Amino acid sequence: MVNADMETLAEQVAELIDKSQRLVVFTGAGISTESGIPDFRGKDGIWTKMDPEDFTIQRFVARPEVRKMQWKLLAEGGLLKDARPNIAHYAIAELEKLGKLDCVVTQNIDNLHQLAGNSPEIVFELHGNMQYVRCLGCHRRLPMAEIIARLSVEDLPECEHCKGILKPDAVFFGESLPQLVLSEAARRATQCDLCIVIGSTLVVYPAASIPMYAYDAGAKVVIINIGATPMDSKAAVRIEGKAGETMTKVMRQVKRKMSK
Ligand code: APR
Repeated sequence: MVNADMETLAEQVAELIDKSQRLVVFTGAGISTESGIPDFRGKDGIWTKMDPEDFTIQRFVARPEVRKMQWKLLAEGGLLKDARPNIAHYAIAELEKLGKLDCVVTQNIDNLHQLAGNSPEIVFELHGNMQYVRCLGCHRRLPMAEIIARLSVEDLPECEHCKGILKPDAVFFGESLPQLVLSEAARRATQCDLCIVIGSTLVVYPAASIPMYAYDAGAKVVIINIGATPMDSKAAVRIEGKAGETMTKVMRQVKRKMSK
């Protein structure tokens, strides 16, 4: 029966997508767990093993040992490894190819939406991207790969230009989000008619405001997640299920409707 429910709910989501003129997809770490990247608050999430306080900008700047720990994690590939997109990412890229997607707003820093084929100009990364490193002194931006290569001989890389602190170009707790990205994502959310949330607890602000802006502007909200979220009662359709399996069922129905 559960599968039947899933099929029925997937068909309802496909109907909303088919009728939508402006679809915004909002993703969180839950869409990347099937690519081998742990999420934060789900079962076995990163915050069940590490202290989020160690990922505040204050502690990163103040404590060299915290910076060493983070660079060691990155050198070991602990956060992103060489992750590849999964079927849920490819489903969202296919929505763009089918002309059904306005944009993707993501909290993720793993670059997997772009790798799956979504156009970078419609992927709004609210929490930055781990492909780059930023110098907190002279603000130069360097490829992450360049710094990872140095980690075999250095455990605390500094900026070669100004000796400043180097930091992955992801947004740490206590840091503000990239304002232009956030404002454009918010603008798109207030203009969409459908917002599909995939793989997020919707507890971290201001990112979690995005689906709320859509809802408050009259859009329908769909939530696909393993575990409850504070927006569940506002969802037009709520699917308790895996991102990959769910989006596969949804896309099968979307393409069936488009072929009619
Ligand atoms: N399919 C569907 N849902 C999944 C899957 C999956 N395969 N795997 C995990 N989930 C669910 C988890 O159960 C959890 O409810 O995805 C959700 C992920 O929530 P979080 O770990 O809180 O991730 P996110 O919402 O993206 O966190 C927001 O918090 O720590 C900060 O900066 C970090 O961007 C992150 C922000």
